[in-house]
Amino acid sequence: MLNKNTKIFLAGHNGLVGGAILKQLINRGYKNIITISKKKLDLRDQKKVFNFIKAKKPKFIIIAAASVGGIAANNTFKADFIYNNTAIQNNLIHSAFLNGIKNLIFLGSSCVYPRQCKQPIKEEYLLTGPLEKTNEPYAIAKIAGIKMCESYNYQHNTNYLCIMPCNAFGPNDNYDLLTSHFFPALIRRLSDAVNNKKKSIKLWGTGKAKRELIYVDNIADACIFFMNKKVKHSLINIGSEEESSIKQFVEKVRNKIGKGIQIEFDNNKEMDGTPRKILDCSIARSYGWKKKISFNIGLELTLNDFFKRKGNFRKIKF
Ligand SMILES: NC(=O)c1ccc[n+]([C@@H]2O[C@H](COP(=O)([O-])OP(=O)(O)OC[C@H]3O[C@@H](n4cnc5c(N)ncnc54)[C@H](OP(=O)(O)O)[C@@H]3O)[C@@H](O)[C@H]2O)c1
Repeated sequence: MLNKNTKIFLAGHNGLVGGAILKQLINRGYKNIITISKKKLDLRDQKKVFNFIKAKKPKFIIIAAASVGGIAANNTFKADFIYNNTAIQNNLIHSAFLNGIKNLIFLGSSCVYPRQCKQPIKEEYLLTGPLEKTNEPYAIAKIAGIKMCESYNYQHNTNYLCIMPCNAFGPNDNYDLLTSHFFPALIRRLSDAVNNKKKSIKLWGTGKAKRELIYVDNIADACIFFMNKKVKHSLINIGSEEESSIKQFVEKVRNKIGKGIQIEFDNNKEMDGTPRKILDCSIARSYGWKKKISFNIGLELTLNDFFKRKGNFRKIKF
């Protein structure tokens, strides 16, 4: 569907997911990639976004720009999460349509599915029950993005595809303890404990909630795979199809950094979030996609990147 000279606008190229997509597009020989920093173009600004898309005329847009964070950020910056995300996606999706751009990928997340969802989660379970309260505004924004893509496909015959990955980790993650997801926060907490010669650390929640994690290059690979595929679905789950409890993830990371550090949980159930979420990826598999990089290799690559940064992590502002 695409050739290596196709003009692609990648929104959010400095982020965890966008950065991985950019690296893989370049490695695979795509030569015509447009990126722009948030400083130069705030994607919440409708007029500027419309003018930018009109001037650059990309043939394909990937939306990896969003306000993203862990449970504490989602529970605190609720207004930012709903406003920023609906504004970014509305501006990009509608200006894609106005400029005759037929193909687009919109990235969402597995938190769009109901809190007590049947497992493994199939795409068809969207909107079958109430959402997890702590990230409801973020999930509602993402669901609006999915419905917007579906509606434009229906009414305007576009091919706007929504990719829903499970929790991601990888190089250049957000390691800010107040805004990050649980996995980068865990790496940071254990590393800080080692540096400060602490014998124990206390983590949020009970440790019993189960999560599915995917190394971010697998998400980038899925985006490029589906950019080049004609698909009849507008919503596709992307996961590793392996789940562990938070306690088990703690063990996996503690074995690499911080052996011997005691872990306590504060047993605050509210900080567990959704009890379990593992994605059913049979639709992705039916097109021939599956993850290539295992959790263990992904963890090695992530930790190498983490230590190379020597505490110099990017800052997230909502
Ligand atoms: N992280 C995960 O575990 C995960 C899992 C599944 C799906 N996803 C999805 O993947 C997408 C990207 O997530 P991520 O983890 O890569 O997030 P991230 O690391 O925080 O990156 C988000 C990117 O969006 C940009 N951005 C935010 N607001 C912007 C604005 N107003 N104007 C322009 N750019 C803006 C940021 O730019 P700056 O760097 O300049 O701030 C950053 O480059 C999201 O849609 C998310 O739902 C993420």
